Amino acid sequence: MKCFSHLCTYWTMSDKFIKYTGLVPKIKALIDKEIGLVGNLANTSAAIKEEFGFLWVGFYLVEGNELLLGPFQGPVACTRIARGRGVCGKSWEMDKALVVDNVHEFADHIPCSDKANSEIVLPVHDQDSNVKLVMDIDSVDLAAFDDTDVQYLGEIVKEIESLL
Ligand code: SME
Repeated sequence: MKCFSHLCTYWTMSDKFIKYTGLVPKIKALIDKEIGLVGNLANTSAAIKEEFGFLWVGFYLVEGNELLLGPFQGPVACTRIARGRGVCGKSWEMDKALVVDNVHEFADHIPCSDKANSEIVLPVHDQDSNVKLVMDIDSVDLAAFDDTDVQYLGEIVKEIESLL
C-alpha cells in the first residue's frame, strides 16, 4: 500500500483498480467453455487469489435448499450452508451482492477461519436468472471490499454466468 498522508485512500483505490483492470481480461481469456464448470471455477478462484492474496476465494453451488462447497483456493472451509444462513446463504436468499466490513459484527456469519475479518459474496445466475452459485471471498483485513470489488467481481461473475 502506498500512503502519503491524505493521499493514502486515493493510492489504495488506484492499486485495486489497476489490479482488476489486468485481472478481468486475464480471467476472460482463461474461461474455456470446453472444460466444464469445475475447471473454470477453480482457475477463476486461483487467478483472483494470486492477484490479491485474499485469504479464501471460491464458490458454493446451489443444491436443493442448501449451498455445497465448490472449487476454492485457501484454507479448509465448511461444506454445507443452508439458504438464508451466513453471508453466503443470505446473498443467495436476497439475490444480492453483500459486502461485510467486519464479519464479527455480522450476526449470522459462519466462521470457516478465525483469520477472516471481512467478506464479499456475489450471486451467480443461470440464463433464467436463477441463482446457481455464489462467489465468496474472505480477507484477513477489515473492510477490504467496496463498490470497486462489487463492480469488477461482477464482471467476472458475468463471464461465469455465460457457462450456466
Ligand atoms: N463466512 C461464510 C461461510 C463460507 S467461508 O467464509 C469460506 C458465511 O458466513 O456464509
